[in-house]
Amino acid sequence: MVSTWYYLILPIVLIAGILRKSREYAWGKCKNKSNLEGRVFIVTGANSGIGKEIVKELAKRKATVVLACRNLQAAKDTVQEICKNAPNAQLVPMELDLASFVSIKSFAAQVLKQYPEIHVLINNAGVYVPLQNRDKDLTKEGFEIHFGVNHLGHFLLTNLLLDRLKESTPSRVVVVTSKLLESGVIDFANLNGEKRLPVKGGMNPGYCNSKLANAYFAAELARRAEQTGVSVYMVCPGFTYTSLFRHVKRSWFHYIIFSPVALLYLRTANQGAQTILHCATDPTLSNETGKMYRDCKVYTSKKTFDPETASKLWEVSVKFTGLQETFL
Ligand SMILES: NC(=O)c1ccc[n+]([C@@H]2O[C@H](COP(=O)([O-])OP(=O)(O)OC[C@H]3O[C@@H](n4cnc5c(N)ncnc54)[C@H](OP(=O)(O)O)[C@@H]3O)[C@@H](O)[C@H]2O)c1
Repeated sequence: MVSTWYYLILPIVLIAGILRKSREYAWGKCKNKSNLEGRVFIVTGANSGIGKEIVKELAKRKATVVLACRNLQAAKDTVQEICKNAPNAQLVPMELDLASFVSIKSFAAQVLKQYPEIHVLINNAGVYVPLQNRDKDLTKEGFEIHFGVNHLGHFLLTNLLLDRLKESTPSRVVVVTSKLLESGVIDFANLNGEKRLPVKGGMNPGYCNSKLANAYFAAELARRAEQTGVSVYMVCPGFTYTSLFRHVKRSWFHYIIFSPVALLYLRTANQGAQTILHCATDPTLSNETGKMYRDCKVYTSKKTFDPETASKLWEVSVKFTGLQETFL
């Protein structure tokens, strides 16, 4: 019995451990640990998963962080939890529901009133709704939930805060997208899923399309913000263990099949936060803008973000959000 363990199981465990460590090494880590006292960060969706880890790391470095969350109590609980280990952290919970233009405008007004400078906006919040639910889930203004929250909500928020970011240069906008954008499409005749979204290879088209829209938005924002001192970064955090897929029902069978994949590819929330932290804080990136990052380095996506589509999506988004003017 002992010898079976010794000769069979132990080598498997050792090899798995080495493979895991080499994957973790390849994912990279935010190396910059400078003091961020006096720098103001806004993190959307900061009460769980990757967002919460971003706040924890920024708090260690003495940044002022606004936790922009749809559930204010969850934001307060997160602040309380993080402050146990960082009692002097400057963490401010605020309500922001990206599925409601009213909430976004009210949040922006509150932040602009309270902070004369905003240095980094991290558009991290995201929603993933299973295909079966997609007809039920719309934003307050009736937009398809992924397009509405992941893209339009952040588009409106960023535009409302842009003037302040421009006044606080050098400043940054970090747009959290996903490699899944490579399965997305921008179909201007079906942006809001009016014609029902086609499903390819089990992918959730609403989610993939919204992540592609995030990238087009970041590319266009970077172009418009050139020479203003506002840098823009898009980030894929990598496949990360969080609550993002909480509504997806899985069988026990799935978990058995999935565990080797998880061992090799699934990051912890803290590991998922590293590339975002790198783009939000590393001074060596200050002259870079408009690029996509993954594993703490530039990532070349299979998709190219052509300027015509980016510009058209920007104009359509202005119309949908009812922005009177964009600030760039
Ligand atoms: N996990 C991955 O494998 C992975 C891979 C690639 C990209 N990403 C991206 O990483 C980002 C963070 O996701 P995560 O993995 O950390 O998932 P998560 O733990 O589910 O966090 C998502 C956050 O977004 C918030 N949110 C959802 N709808 C919102 C709304 N209407 N208004 C304001 N906040 C809202 C959630 O709030 P509640 O807690 O109230 O729901 C939560 O705080 C997302 O943009 C996601 O697309 C994740």
